[in-house]
Amino acid sequence: MASRTSWIARVAVAAVVVLVPLSVVGYRYAPAAVAWFDDESCVGCHRERNERLVGQWIDSAHFAARLGCEGCHGTDHDAMFAADGDVSPEICGKCHEAAYKGFAKSAHARAAQDARDNARFKVAPPAMQRQGCMSCHAIGKSFPDGGTGRCNDCHAGHLFAAAEAREPRACEGCHMGPDHPQAEAWRASKHGIVYRGLKDEAISPTCVGCHVGGSSRHDFDVRPEEIAATCERCHAKGFVRRHLADAEEIGRIADGLVAEAAQILRELNDEGLLAPSPADRPAHPEAGHTMVLGGEQLYSDTTAVEQTFFEMTKFHHATTVKGANHFSPDHVHWLGYARLQANLTRIRDAARRLRAERKD
Ligand code: HEC
Ligand code: HEC
Ligand code: HEC
Ligand code: HEC
Ligand code: HEC
Ligand code: HEC
Ligand code: HEC
Ligand code: HEC
Repeated sequence: MASRTSWIARVAVAAVVVLVPLSVVGYRYAPAAVAWFDDESCVGCHRERNERLVGQWIDSAHFAARLGCEGCHGTDHDAMFAADGDVSPEICGKCHEAAYKGFAKSAHARAAQDARDNARFKVAPPAMQRQGCMSCHAIGKSFPDGGTGRCNDCHAGHLFAAAEAREPRACEGCHMGPDHPQAEAWRASKHGIVYRGLKDEAISPTCVGCHVGGSSRHDFDVRPEEIAATCERCHAKGFVRRHLADAEEIGRIADGLVAEAAQILRELNDEGLLAPSPADRPAHPEAGHTMVLGGEQLYSDTTAVEQTFFEMTKFHHATTVKGANHFSPDHVHWLGYARLQANLTRIRDAARRLRAERKD
């Protein structure tokens, strides 16, 4: 009797193991699904622990294409723990060669290295390097197998949907803030306003609508020779020419204001009017005891007038130019240009004061 009870129990368990998943996933995937949903398998064990994760995978193109967990993660749990569960783009690239090659040529693939090479990274505490730089720049993370990049920064696991990555939300977490306000500028532009109302890329462009994507275009660069044609899908030639010319002109004006401010700072430094002087401060990681302006400028251990210049270049110049490229009137003017002018005024003022104090 005992053996018959356990036999019945086993059939019942087998029926549940086979039929419940089949009813979830449908007949089409039945042969693979039975093995996948076996108790000993990745899915069998993980579906209870990470129910939502497994659900996303079931909804994904990968499930439909019969790509199981081990197709991306392999079968060695220790190796998965060592990698924090992350998957090298080399693996994705085996099946998505064009996307991988396009990504590898992009600015995104250089992002981690560019951050590490930057002076502001070098002087930051490790926790700040991780949270304050790499949370965005790990999109260019390096893996032990030589792969570079985190595909899942735009294709969130485990759905890995192209449609999700086409939404501006996929870019907004990183392309925001005063030094690269593309998200805010797009949202404040007519394009963002109309898109958020109608949700139709054919009427109003998203990021990817202008930064053309697709499998062989995973760099998302706006190619200068293509941009007018992109706009002309929706706008008249003359309209496009005028607005692109304005954006370029605004860039030149912003460059001019920064150049004037930089010249004032170099003169103040030459005249020995910066206190503490570069010689009396902690050494800059690249340039030692010389004054550094621009991309490698630090925002710590300098002087108030240099800090004003830092904000001018890093924030207000960027907001003006990037606001113009993304057609946000507020970014280009009040959040950008007006502050550039205000800071240039402060720098001219500080120079007059420092020179007057020296004469006393
Ligand atoms: C017997 C149960 C079991 C099986 C079978 C199993 N796992 Fe796991 N897995 C775990 C547990 C437990 C953890 C760690 C606990 C957690 O974080 O949920 C884990 C963690 C992971 C992680 C996360 C690693 C990290 O550091 O973030 C991945 C990825 C993973 N498993 C993939 C797989 C794949 C792929 C398979 C099949 C080849 C598999 N697992 C088979 C139980 C299992
Ligand atoms: C198309 C490739 C791919 C497939 C298929 C895949 N994964 Fe993943 N998985 C990834 C990537 C990439 C990450 C890291 C990004 C993330 O955390 O979302 C990841 C992360 C994980 C993690 C860690 C997540 C966390 O937040 O701690 C677990 C656990 C995991 N996968 C389990 C599984 C299981 C179980 C399956 C099968 C049901 C599976 N994966 C199928 C690519 C894949
Ligand atoms: C996880 C953060 C992150 C996400 C998500 C992200 N980016 Fe980026 N992006 C960066 C970083 C960091 C850089 C700068 C890389 C460098 O130059 O070192 C960058 C650079 C770029 C560049 C090149 C800019 C230049 O001046 O050459 C473009 C274009 C771009 N991203 C577009 C996009 C688009 C479009 C999306 C969404 C589909 C997106 N990015 C999503 C972090 C991100
Ligand atoms: C909120 C996400 C985010 C954080 C945090 C972040 N960056 Fe970036 N970074 C970006 C994006 C996006 C770009 C591309 C800007 C563009 O092209 O408009 C970028 C560009 C850069 C560049 C390329 C050249 C330049 O100056 O534009 C360097 C270098 C850089 N970041 C270094 C750093 C360092 C160092 C830190 C930490 C101190 C840091 N970033 C923090 C998102 C971020
Ligand atoms: C063993 C082959 C294989 C691997 C490995 C693989 N994929 Fe896929 N992937 C496919 C197939 C097949 C499809 C469905 C057909 C297609 O869209 O090309 C697909 C579809 C996709 C799509 C489009 C889904 C949609 O909405 O249309 C994305 C995005 C994607 N994969 C990203 C990834 C990423 C990221 C990785 C690595 C973490 C990865 N894939 C690993 C085979 C693979
Ligand atoms: C209406 C078209 C359009 C839309 C929509 C658009 N961009 Fe741009 N983007 C441009 C143009 C034009 C440039 C300037 C290209 C150049 O000068 O080489 C640019 C430049 C950039 C740059 C380089 C730095 C800069 O701002 O000049 C990044 C990064 C970027 N865009 C990201 C995004 C993101 C993220 C979104 C969505 C939130 C987006 N773009 C939406 C047209 C667009
Ligand atoms: C900066 C964001 C971003 C990153 C990072 C990214 N993708 Fe994409 N991916 C997209 C967008 C946006 C689309 C939709 C493009 C379109 O429809 O024009 C897409 C589409 C895809 C597709 C669908 C088919 C196709 O080729 O158009 C695949 C497959 C894919 N990506 C794979 C990858 C792989 C593999 C990686 C890592 C090497 C990766 N993606 C990294 C944004 C990204
Ligand atoms: C997919 C269609 C589409 C594309 C592509 C597109 N736009 Fe637009 N644009 C619109 C819509 C819709 C509006 C809002 C309604 C209107 O003003 O016509 C708009 C508004 C504008 C405005 C504001 C006009 C105003 O009167 O306030 C400017 C400037 C603009 N677009 C420039 C461009 C430029 C430059 C490009 C290319 C870099 C471009 N657009 C690409 C659809 C598009």
